[in-house]
Amino acid sequence: MNRGYFITFEGGDGSGKSTQIRILMDRLRESGYDVVLTREPGGTEISEKIREIILDPANSDMDDMTEALLYAAARAQLVSQLIKPALEEGKVVICDRFVDSSIAYQGFGRGLGDAVGVINTYAVDGCMPDLTILLKLDPARGSSRIAGREHDRIEQASDGFHRKVYEGYLELEAKYPERILGIDASGTIEEIAEEIARRVGAIMK
Ligand code: TYD
Repeated sequence: MNRGYFITFEGGDGSGKSTQIRILMDRLRESGYDVVLTREPGGTEISEKIREIILDPANSDMDDMTEALLYAAARAQLVSQLIKPALEEGKVVICDRFVDSSIAYQGFGRGLGDAVGVINTYAVDGCMPDLTILLKLDPARGSSRIAGREHDRIEQASDGFHRKVYEGYLELEAKYPERILGIDASGTIEEIAEEIARRVGAIMK
């Protein structure tokens, strides 16, 4: 199937994803891998436009299903335009968030349930990650880490919402243990980076 390697990062807001993504990307490049880094929602011109609509705090009356469909639409474009072609060329693709975010945020957080998985079957079109790194941090700690910066529409949601998102991630971790590597994100940057490197190294041999 995939000739390259597809790694996604997941976690609540403030879990330290960006730092770990940068460390892993640098390591893989130093080891000679051709790495493509992208993010969701976004990563292509069309998907970035959809991102602006989704995250704009002015769109406070957006319907939950509209939100779920927009995330899926941004994803469909990213998969077909960037992720699939890069994997076919044998590259390593690292994506900051992917379909598990939709299951956790829209399925569990917004309460849309199984509909989110169904919609995303079409968006993902068979292109699932080889490995998903889930940075687990209690949502109360995550929100205190992002307290100083301006919040987008999703970050503005209630603590109860972020608690449900977190519980959704834990369910996903239990359901797909072979794909999802859950890591305690309260450890040091170095400890977490080592654990990620170990797991990635084991699979990419
Ligand atoms: P972003 O600024 O990229 O957040 P982060 O740095 O935390 O990754 O904004 C993305 C927001 O969108 C984030 O709050 C999570 C949310 N999201 C969903 O609700 N569903 C999704 O499918 C995706 C990809 C993201």
